[in-house]
Amino acid sequence: MTNSRWEILLDGLVKRALFWSPLRSYLLYKYRYAFTPAQLGRLTALATEAAAHPGDFCEIGCYRGYTTVWLNRHLDVVAPAKRYWAIDTFGGFVPADVAHEQQARGKDSAEDRRALDKFTVNSRRWFDRTMTLNGITRVTSHAAAVQDFAFPAGARFCYVLLDVDLYQPTKVALEKLWPLLSPGGVIVVDDCHAGHVYDGSRQALTEFCTARGLTFEVVELKLGVLRKEP
Ligand SMILES: C[S@@+](CC[C@H](N)C(=O)[O-])C[C@H]1O[C@@H](n2cnc3c(N)ncnc32)[C@H](O)[C@@H]1O
Repeated sequence: MTNSRWEILLDGLVKRALFWSPLRSYLLYKYRYAFTPAQLGRLTALATEAAAHPGDFCEIGCYRGYTTVWLNRHLDVVAPAKRYWAIDTFGGFVPADVAHEQQARGKDSAEDRRALDKFTVNSRRWFDRTMTLNGITRVTSHAAAVQDFAFPAGARFCYVLLDVDLYQPTKVALEKLWPLLSPGGVIVVDDCHAGHVYDGSRQALTEFCTARGLTFEVVELKLGVLRKEP
């Protein structure tokens, strides 16, 4: 759709006004991904690989939808018929999960406490509108802690991005999602670098795999990749 001269003029005036206002940061482009370009590249390549197998895509811990938009733009090209589930509290961490990090895992420095208080400014409505703004229709959002979310009978996945940062929700999500993963499918667990406030993700993945005789690899510094044999 082309804009009229008046629309272009008005758009320019509004943007110039914004630039000189305290709202400048909302106007200027900012890299907002929690992943480096190399990590996004890896997530994208794994999505292509997984899309060859039966089942949907699922992101647990989707925050405001930055990576959701990225991956869905890719699915538009490689697998437009896939569905994409996006699950989040849309209000940050669950208090019991935070308490576990602080009390059982010793994550209680001032810096830890700041990290455990993130992601609270969010809303499912913002997420859904972000999908609409980007012309994405295959995503269904669910506002729930993964601990409380019951996947319906018949749910099947080929790709899961598990990005809830802490030990307890990662553990529960792995237990729920692994049986639903198709052979050939992949689960990617973010934050699998050691010695980090969010290293509970890696602990949960390690324990899960050890208990079942499975192996995972960590790629691009922090992406834990767990594949199900085809
Ligand atoms: C690092 S952010 C996700 C970033 C997102 N994947 C992206 O790439 O933009 C972590 C998200 O996990 C969500 N979260 C934390 N604990 C959760 C739980 N128990 N169940 C569901 N979502 C949870 C938070 O609300 C937050 O939005």
